[in-house]
Amino acid sequence: MLDRYRLQMPGFVLKHRAWFIASFQALLVLCSLVLAWLLRFDFSLPHRLLLFGTAPVLIVIRLVVLSQFGLMHGWWQYTDVSDAIDVLKAVLTGSAVFFFLMFAVLGVVSFPRSIYILEAVLSMVMLAGVRLFFRIVAESIRRGTTPEKRVLLVGAGFAGQMVIREIERPGSGYHVVGCVDDDGSKSGIRLRGVPVIGTINELPILAKTHKVDEILIAIPSATKAQMRKFVELCERTGVRFKTVPTRQDILSGQVRIDEFRDVQLEDLLGRDPVEINLESVKKKIHDRVILVTGAAGSIGSELCRQILEDSPQKLVSVDQSETGMFYLNLELSEHKNGSQLVCCVADVGDCERMRAIFAEHRPEVVFHAAAYKHVPVMEKNVQEAVKNNIFALSGLLAVAEEVSCSTFVLISSDKAVNPTSVMGVTKRVGELLVSSRPANSMTCVSVRFGNVLGSNGSVVAVLQKQLRNNEPLTITHPEIKRFFMTTREAVSLVLQAFSIGNHGDTLLLEMGSPVRILDLARTLMKLSGKSEKEVKIKFTGLREGEKLFEELSYLAEEVHPTIFPKINRIHGTPTHWLEVQRHLDQLRICASIDEVGRIRAKLKEMVPEYSYRAEGSTQESFTQTSLILRKAASVG
Ligand SMILES: NC(=O)c1ccc[n+]([C@@H]2O[C@H](COP(=O)([O-])OP(=O)(O)OC[C@H]3O[C@@H](n4cnc5c(N)ncnc54)[C@H](O)[C@@H]3O)[C@@H](O)[C@H]2O)c1
Repeated sequence: MLDRYRLQMPGFVLKHRAWFIASFQALLVLCSLVLAWLLRFDFSLPHRLLLFGTAPVLIVIRLVVLSQFGLMHGWWQYTDVSDAIDVLKAVLTGSAVFFFLMFAVLGVVSFPRSIYILEAVLSMVMLAGVRLFFRIVAESIRRGTTPEKRVLLVGAGFAGQMVIREIERPGSGYHVVGCVDDDGSKSGIRLRGVPVIGTINELPILAKTHKVDEILIAIPSATKAQMRKFVELCERTGVRFKTVPTRQDILSGQVRIDEFRDVQLEDLLGRDPVEINLESVKKKIHDRVILVTGAAGSIGSELCRQILEDSPQKLVSVDQSETGMFYLNLELSEHKNGSQLVCCVADVGDCERMRAIFAEHRPEVVFHAAAYKHVPVMEKNVQEAVKNNIFALSGLLAVAEEVSCSTFVLISSDKAVNPTSVMGVTKRVGELLVSSRPANSMTCVSVRFGNVLGSNGSVVAVLQKQLRNNEPLTITHPEIKRFFMTTREAVSLVLQAFSIGNHGDTLLLEMGSPVRILDLARTLMKLSGKSEKEVKIKFTGLREGEKLFEELSYLAEEVHPTIFPKINRIHGTPTHWLEVQRHLDQLRICASIDEVGRIRAKLKEMVPEYSYRAEGSTQESFTQTSLILRKAASVG
């Protein structure tokens, strides 16, 4: 764009640009002086010798001062308020120097005093005015030649102003035709020259009357509820809409306010950012050796990112996925924050390997996020679920205690509550292993929560892929519901929970209200710009081990608040460590003889609430029966 303006100037002017700019400004100063003279002497020019004798002195002073203030570049089409302020400062400085020179150095006392003031005012008006004029002309040329999108801004606040400043620059491809705001009293005011044309509720009609091509939501601090309302109104306009990044992202310096993006599911479904007590978390992480298992996974990798923000002495990441670790290491190396990074490709179930890693790095805190989590897959691989989610954990707890690790945090899941799947029951046994462990020097804590949005293989990821590929959306049941939070929020709360966890605690993260997957699919559909007529929804039937809805706690468990509003502490029936160990030994025998029926029976013995499909019954009848029993129990 700059080149384009340059090309419009004749070659001769371009070559001697600096001289032209200086001469032009000199001419303006001369005009100001002559005009001041005319005004002072009733439109006549007496004392011409004095006038034209002092003019060169004034011009030189003004040009030198203008160049000192960086006002000789001539790119006046980009002029803004800061240039006007600089012009004012340069004129005042130049006038002071001129007055001092004339009065104190040259002793020219006959120079009319009012001319000092009149000339300064006129120079200011001309030097600033010419810049404004060039900008207006350049803008109108740009508007006439560049195809621009007519944009309507949602939000006439501070962010709206910044957005207007950014996108009204030449070449942005946007032209803001107006703003709307929640606050009706703003109607009629102008934001950097852009009128506030109505309230947010009037969006559908205003978008139509102003022939808008795109809507920009310019409220980085919008709550999820506000965002849902904006999106609903934008959808009614039928116009494409985007949003500015969130306040957190802007403040973190990752993105600029004008890096507009599509509205994402997290903007609507997640919850408003959690206030984390950074100090309490930092105290427990800063300068320590922290180990994260399952580090290449959704939860593990976010744990690594957030832990690094608190500058541990060393962060040891462990995962069996070599490719996953490659990418994680690549990413974390850019945000080391002074910490040492150690990346170990290892199976956490391999006790000898883990013992060697722990002996070498001596972690003080362990976050255990390595696990198998896919319910239908684990139904077909029962032994593997038991091996990875139970025995690997049991071995790891022992290894951690051997090296005097101070805290061990198990990442659990809402599927551990009244489990209907092998995955869920193994997570519950994991919680029991942690809570029943005798209190020695190591504090063992489990943190339980529901689904996180967009994690590997999650329902959101599957639906998004189907939408991209124009395939029907597959949902197992029209009524299936799940709890959701963003990965960032879940992990922030895990860290917060870790900072208050006492030995044996199971801490429960508050998940808000469950979301119907069918509604989630419809929202995703709309966000991708497709209608329900274009995309089919197919109900495939509940899969083995899958529940219609998840629960966050057992009926027998008491849920107590903690000092942090979104973290609760669960008080359940205590389980004896020796009892758990006895069961574990028997489970090991069942697993070694590879008998799925016996493994399930043993798991049920350990977790009586575990319900699984008895041979011969259909999945649908099994799930519905367990649903009815649970509802009856909750009513009772
Ligand atoms: N994703 C969710 O919505 C969610 C919600 C609540 C709880 N959780 C729990 O969080 C944990 C992690 O979930 P995720 O979504 O990050 O899963 P994920 O599949 O994205 O990550 C798990 C990681 O663990 C690794 N891993 C598995 N077994 C291992 C082993 N034996 N040795 C080394 N590495 C191993 C895998 O390679 C993978 O990188 C699970 O226990 C899950 O139940 C997940």
